[in-house]
Amino acid sequence: MQYENPKLVLETSEIKEGSITWKSPSNIAIVKYWGKYSDQLPQNPSLSITLETSFTRTTLHYAPRRTPGQGVSVELYFEGARHEAFEQRVRKYFEKILPIFPFLRQLDLKVETANSFPHSSGIASSASAMSALALCCCTLEDEFFHTLEDDEAFDRKASYVARLGSGSACRSIYPYLALWGETGEVPGSSNLYAIPMAEQAHPVYQTFHDDILIIRSGEKKVSSSAGHGLMHNHPFAEARFQYARKSLHQLLGALRTGDLETFGKIAEAEALMLHALMMSAPSPYLLLAPHTITAMERVQAFRAETGHPVYFSLDAGPNLHVLYPESVIHEVRPFIDDQLAPLCEEGVYLQDWAGEGPEQL
Ligand code: PMV
Repeated sequence: MQYENPKLVLETSEIKEGSITWKSPSNIAIVKYWGKYSDQLPQNPSLSITLETSFTRTTLHYAPRRTPGQGVSVELYFEGARHEAFEQRVRKYFEKILPIFPFLRQLDLKVETANSFPHSSGIASSASAMSALALCCCTLEDEFFHTLEDDEAFDRKASYVARLGSGSACRSIYPYLALWGETGEVPGSSNLYAIPMAEQAHPVYQTFHDDILIIRSGEKKVSSSAGHGLMHNHPFAEARFQYARKSLHQLLGALRTGDLETFGKIAEAEALMLHALMMSAPSPYLLLAPHTITAMERVQAFRAETGHPVYFSLDAGPNLHVLYPESVIHEVRPFIDDQLAPLCEEGVYLQDWAGEGPEQL
């Protein structure tokens, strides 16, 4: 796979100004990506549910560059205000992908971006933010050069480019379910980009809800990139990567057949293992909060009492994702309102669900 293309250079006289807007969702991994090598390549395959209501909306404004220079000329506005830290991160990202999109250097760029979820809600925004940016770049390429007219080629390149910004972002490109990482079992799977999985899964998974309990908002103590780094000399690294491959194999079976019990067992085991890996890292750390644990226990107790297929997952933070199919929403929502919402900061949880993927606006 070679996306570097020195030919994607514009005739400067032909550049007009314009803008492109994409809305791109976050995702929640069922089998987690934790540990990477080389340039954002995963140590094990991962599989996620694409969300719907937790998204980033990004507009990329472009105009012919007024003052030529080596790097990328970009300004970034986050929720209406210039944001230096995000601007720096995006400039670094654009400079990294210059060999893929050399025309970016010929433009003055302005990025306007905002999240649908409340600021500092503790929702990882890198998947939605980086996928939205990658989609904008691919659309820009297509507008200028007509090189990505084939939808499949467009999505694959967007996923590849998103991966270079944030690994998990490459999975946000596809509706409902996405798989990232090579596995002999799924033809076309790759470490370089994610592939769509919804068509290979039972339709029940397209009805899944993910209510996200905001147990604690604010910045994480340890970033995901630092966390991935700690897998390098982690005492359980090899065992983890093997185990994740086994879990993915089992999950693929549960996806095909609609076996929710196996799906839920894997989701919960993966969530707990992700945090166990943090707690047993060479410099151990803890991202769970007391209310996270209470909420997990309540989900398990509710399931044991009622038999309803409701399960949890976690990202690299204390906020619990409560997963269940649409068929039990009338039983599960009152339980969440009564027993889980009081564990949330300000009683807030976000209602999300498996969604249709990014949308160009
Ligand atoms: O995409 P990154 O580098 O922020 O890593 C995120 C990894 C997890 O969200 C914890 C798990 C996953 O597979 O999404």
